[in-house]
Amino acid sequence: MKQTANWEQEFAERFEARFDEFRQLYCEVYNNDMQAFYWLAGAMHEYYEKRNAALKALDRKREKEPFWYSTNSLVGMMLYVDNFADNLKGVREKIDYIKESGVNYLHLMPLLKSPKDRSDGGYAVSDFRRVQPELGTMKDLEALTAECHINDISVCLDFVMNHTSEDHAWAKAAREGDEEMKKRYFFFDNWDIPFEFERTVPQVFPTTAPGNFTQLDSGDIVMTTFYPYQWDLNYGNCVVFNDMVCNMLSLCNRGIDIIRLDAVPYIWKELGTNCRNLPTVHKLVRMMRIISEIVCPSVLLLGEVVMEPSKVAPYFGTKDKPECHMLYNVTTMASTWHTVATKDVRLLRFQMLQLSELPKDYVFLNYLRCHDDIGWGLDYEYLSGFGMNEIPHKKFLNDYFTGRFEGSPSRGELYNDDESLGDARLCGTTASLCGIETALTENDAKALKTAVDCDIMLHAYMMTQSGIPVIYSGDEIAQLNDESYHDDPDKSPDSRYLHRGRFDWTKAEKRTDNKTVEGTVYQALTELERIRREHEVFTASADFSVTDTINKHVLGIKREYQGKKLYAFFNFSAEKQVVFFDGILSGVELISGETVRGLSETLEPYGFLWILC
Ligand code: GLC
Ligand code: GLC
Repeated sequence: MKQTANWEQEFAERFEARFDEFRQLYCEVYNNDMQAFYWLAGAMHEYYEKRNAALKALDRKREKEPFWYSTNSLVGMMLYVDNFADNLKGVREKIDYIKESGVNYLHLMPLLKSPKDRSDGGYAVSDFRRVQPELGTMKDLEALTAECHINDISVCLDFVMNHTSEDHAWAKAAREGDEEMKKRYFFFDNWDIPFEFERTVPQVFPTTAPGNFTQLDSGDIVMTTFYPYQWDLNYGNCVVFNDMVCNMLSLCNRGIDIIRLDAVPYIWKELGTNCRNLPTVHKLVRMMRIISEIVCPSVLLLGEVVMEPSKVAPYFGTKDKPECHMLYNVTTMASTWHTVATKDVRLLRFQMLQLSELPKDYVFLNYLRCHDDIGWGLDYEYLSGFGMNEIPHKKFLNDYFTGRFEGSPSRGELYNDDESLGDARLCGTTASLCGIETALTENDAKALKTAVDCDIMLHAYMMTQSGIPVIYSGDEIAQLNDESYHDDPDKSPDSRYLHRGRFDWTKAEKRTDNKTVEGTVYQALTELERIRREHEVFTASADFSVTDTINKHVLGIKREYQGKKLYAFFNFSAEKQVVFFDGILSGVELISGETVRGLSETLEPYGFLWILC
């Protein structure tokens, strides 16, 4: 490669080791533009130089143990800075609470500068180098990540790379007619090509933001896959890739450990395709992996791939050419809620079986709820074997979780309910979906116990899965839906705000009192985390499989690591169930501490067992 005299040995060695593949990929995507390639190499060196000593030390440490995140000791939490503690300084003051909750992986929801009334919850960034003023400054962010590191907490931040806000400097200049800036987006002066695209590109937000294009006052038409104020970036232009890489590296230099690649399947567009998961997306992600391994190897890439199962795993890349370090276990999440509604574990068992066959170094992020809606991306081919067809089944699930289905205690709201598509998704907090809200309003103590047990069982199941469990802030104290968004004109059209309420610190104060709902859930969760940390059988690289329970309401999972076996059983029904073991089981139930010996056990409604043998 071109010798660059002032490169430090460490940087040069890392670059050299990846040079051939990196150049090859860059040339393929960007038409052999070596000038742009060398510009990027120079910029990468600058970010390496600017990286502070503490972060470089972390880089070296994690380079030596590249699977540092594949353990049973990580527990994540995702939260909105303003909802949780007003601003970044506030979050710093709450680190004790975060630690007390057993959390050592903190996902801060988008906090960069974004127009207030057109922000999509921060996912429309107008300046990648500035923090939203109400939340603080870059210095505050740096101080927070440094303090987190002292406390052994890793910090995750979104990198919203598919689009910028229409208020971003590039977009503003493009709107003014700057030709160079227009090339950073997809601009058209008539509808011919946009209409062509619309024939093959599905819609992400069919009711809240229909269509994939937006016409500006000038008459120009710009591609906007998500909201009209989120302009899609054109990664076919190497300047966009280079500049966005620099934006990412500047966040890494502020101490971000995990970069969440937001909406990554969408970043490459081609006419005549659905513009999702195209082969070039994988080349771009692979390059980002190489770049981070050269400049800041302690940083992990987390891909947000909310897609059907066959599209997700390819984002891990291959053993020789890895892409993302971690991905969301989105199908399991949706299948879990399906199981809550149907009380029939067969789909979930099938899903676990498929996961168990994946390579052990794939690390998934497991979750019950996040800031987004639940999309019903289930395996309908499998379900059709039981007579469940896609459209009517989605309707059943939505009826169930909005409480319209007879006997359902759930209180969710629909999301993007387009009658013609029959494809509505769903919003609500874990507690409200489990029935805690209904039981509280109806003052029904028996129903309340059942709902709380369901909530805890679901968390136990999440923690039994391989990977990193991530709690959605508020769920640890069973926070309910927040209806107040209906009164805010900026938020009311988007029902995802139902589960984006302010963290309730008065409720959090009850966490030590196990006579309260908050205390019961909080203490159960922290106890489950403690047990999980104590036993290596929960490590991400353990073998796991499903076991037959001869009971369609009970899911059985077996984990195995270094001679230890964990048998876990989850009752997804509101009635007592007998679970039959696959032979005689003899071990210790980890939560009660009791000895188990025999062929069967009775599970309480929504009960579960963690039996270590
Ligand atoms: C991601 C985010 C979602 C946002 C979308 C557009 O999918 O999770 O909240 O609306 O990107 O940026
Ligand atoms: C779709 C997108 C995902 C986004 C979500 C927001 O599922 O695939 O990226 O987070 O919509 O609702």
